[in-house]
Amino acid sequence: MASLSSDKTIHTSLLLISAWIWLSSVSSLAELQHFQHPVKPDGSLNILVVGDWGRKGRYNQSEVAFQMGSVGQKLDIDFVISTGDNFYEDGLTGVDDPAFNESFTAIYTAPSLNKQWYNVLGNHDYRGDVEAQLSHILRQKDKRWLCLRSYTLKAEFVEFFFVDTTPFVDKYFTHPGDDTYDWKGVYPREYYLSNLLKDMDEALKKSNAQWKIVVGHHTIKSAGNHGVTEELVEQLVPILEANTVDMYINGHDHCLEHIIESNSQIQYLTTGGGSKAWKGQIHPWDPEELKFYYDGQGFMSMQITQKSVYIAFYDIFGRVLHAWNISKEQYSSA
Ligand SMILES: *[C@@H]1O[C@H](CO)[C@@H](O)[C@H](O)[C@H]1NC(C)=O
Ligand SMILES: *[C@@H]1O[C@H](CO)[C@@H](O)[C@H](O)[C@H]1NC(C)=O
Ligand SMILES: *[C@@H]1O[C@H](CO)[C@@H](O)[C@H](O)[C@H]1NC(C)=O
Repeated sequence: MASLSSDKTIHTSLLLISAWIWLSSVSSLAELQHFQHPVKPDGSLNILVVGDWGRKGRYNQSEVAFQMGSVGQKLDIDFVISTGDNFYEDGLTGVDDPAFNESFTAIYTAPSLNKQWYNVLGNHDYRGDVEAQLSHILRQKDKRWLCLRSYTLKAEFVEFFFVDTTPFVDKYFTHPGDDTYDWKGVYPREYYLSNLLKDMDEALKKSNAQWKIVVGHHTIKSAGNHGVTEELVEQLVPILEANTVDMYINGHDHCLEHIIESNSQIQYLTTGGGSKAWKGQIHPWDPEELKFYYDGQGFMSMQITQKSVYIAFYDIFGRVLHAWNISKEQYSSA
């Protein structure tokens, strides 16, 4: 009996030690990685943004890809951003899933798209093997691929802050229905989220970039089918507002959309038109704020300089549907 209880003590302390090691590795996982990308010699940066795309070319994914290639060539783009839902319906099954080739490598074949792709995960990606998308093996299979949960990307005068938004959404945890989510690396959830918010707030505060652009999969302000994501309004928006973020860019609603929030002046851009679109699915929204809504497929371009950002939405024929400038009269010489 005595030896059993001392075994128990040893067992308990081993458990505590391994819990401590596990927690410290979770905390280092949550720490943001920072990337840099050069701008052009003339001080400009041109990019494309697409979301909700991986359907092996179907639902006009190939048509969108073709037009991205042609606009990408015209603008001599520097890189591409994906706002998530990279592989439908259930992410990747593993690093050897042929969907990686069939939905990505074999689709975005234009030479102009042979640039770095900076990706985030969407809720459909969490329904597969998340670690596969984050894996360096995919980066070897296709050198363009880079996907992390949350990270920052600085290109001289602009900094992008990529936020892993799926773990914020309560219903995936409380009412997953028939879907299974790969939460490895997210549990304990409260810890993951509070760390992520703290890291983002710190990174935004530290940034001296002229333009601060936050990218995530889920909608914050949207008149589309999914609409407003309350968890993000409550937890992320105060950080965006406190740090005078210029834009939040997302996918999730399968449309192209431009909202300017009347109080904060933050611009909320939805570019979730990479493949299947949701015709006719729009909810009422303050027309003062809703500048543009398109319920078909397409993508977005951004031409960024220190003084201004020119943004355009395109349809599957490459036609510009909506375009506008944002400029800053006063800018810091960071
Ligand atoms: C492809 O795009 C065209 C033009 O917007 C649209 O008419 C057609 O329904 C789309 N096809 C699919 C499968 O979504
Ligand atoms: C990738 O997919 C394309 C189109 O489905 C196919 O022709 C090609 O052989 C595939 N490549 C690899 C390496 O699997
Ligand atoms: C944006 O600004 C550029 C350069 O100043 C100008 O040529 C263009 O007409 C503007 N476009 C829009 C849509 O305001």
